[in-house]
Amino acid sequence: MSKIRSMQKILIKNIKGLVQVGENLPQIRKGKDMQELPILENAFLALEDNEVIAYGSMSEWEGITDWRELEVVDAEGRYVLPAFCDAHTHTVFARTREEEFIDKIHGLGYEEIAAKGGGILNSARRLAEMSEDDLLQLAQIRIDKMIACGTGAIEIKSGYGLSVEAELKMLRVIKRLKENNKIAIKATFLGAHAFPTEYKENHRAYIDLIINEMLPKIAEENLANYIDVFCERNYFSVEEMAEILEAGKKIGLTPKVHVNQFSVLGGVVKAIELGALSVDHLEELGDEDIVALQNSTCMPTILPGCSHFLGIPFGDARRMINANLPVALASDFNPGSTPNYNLFTIWSLACIKMKMTPEEAFNALTINAAFAMDLSATHGRICLGSKSPLILTKEIPSLGYLPYSFGELNVERIFI
Ligand code: NIG
Ligand code: FE
Repeated sequence: MSKIRSMQKILIKNIKGLVQVGENLPQIRKGKDMQELPILENAFLALEDNEVIAYGSMSEWEGITDWRELEVVDAEGRYVLPAFCDAHTHTVFARTREEEFIDKIHGLGYEEIAAKGGGILNSARRLAEMSEDDLLQLAQIRIDKMIACGTGAIEIKSGYGLSVEAELKMLRVIKRLKENNKIAIKATFLGAHAFPTEYKENHRAYIDLIINEMLPKIAEENLANYIDVFCERNYFSVEEMAEILEAGKKIGLTPKVHVNQFSVLGGVVKAIELGALSVDHLEELGDEDIVALQNSTCMPTILPGCSHFLGIPFGDARRMINANLPVALASDFNPGSTPNYNLFTIWSLACIKMKMTPEEAFNALTINAAFAMDLSATHGRICLGSKSPLILTKEIPSLGYLPYSFGELNVERIFI
């Protein structure tokens, strides 16, 4: 006898505000339109196996007639939002680096800590010693916590391997995370995160290792969606980045890069020329970067958690929005520069430190972030047929309360 699968049916009623809802919402919001945020008040939402099958005002909800096995959720005083998309994270790592945090308190800078053997190379040493299974288990614990905070899709980078074996180990962990989780996960190859000590004086040999040893294996095992390079002084030059991105593109990886964290080297312009889906960090930004962004579909992605933790400038979102650009926000969750994955915190920081309005920052964490990880069709919005995870908030006075009440977790339930 064939097994009859029972559908999971949920009706959420009396929703105070159903946020980012509608058919034909745009793929991106930019400039003045970043202020747009459609909210349906006093609404209902019907889900079947977590696909949106109906929504509307409470006055129109009689259409839902099949009450068999239906779970009814009363959302009086609560909001329903599409879950956030986190388009830039380093969620797979061996251990945290709070000793560097103490060094920072005593006055050492990010680049000084790296120069004395801390930083990315510290994480790489730890990761080399850890098994794939242990890395997987630790990353899964982090992902469960991210989901509980309202994250519904995650991009995860390699880049703490820095050898053929360890980079592949990281990417295999990400592949298994994709298979084991219900939320969407995208994998980015970041072999060019730092030069390992033994290649400090021989960049050519490490770049050859990336291009001739790592990339062919990544293609063979289909281990990545994107290719990233940390383009920065003391890391990878613009020319080195370009060579690596070109090689990645040959095996079908789209560029998505770390640029302009500490300095403007020309990496933004070059990455856009090479078809980057997003350019991330942008704590520093030149006029030529703005022009290149205006002439492209590349998504500028700002990481305020990193600025806050390192005490470096915040990306100038207002300048970008005034230049009619879109902006996405992401966590940059990693053990060195941003040990925080809670996108509600990022929402608050964007409002407090970058003077984004709650609506602009929410668009940056949903519609625009979904674009920055090729998930526009399914995530960052609520529409008929969408399968994006959803956030049900606690009882709150207004939507602006969410970024205002920084540090408070106002999530009552996540629907995945
Ligand atoms: O995005 N800037 C480069 N990479 C990470 C930090 C990595 C680390 O310090 O472990 C970032 O901030
Ligand atoms: Fe990063």
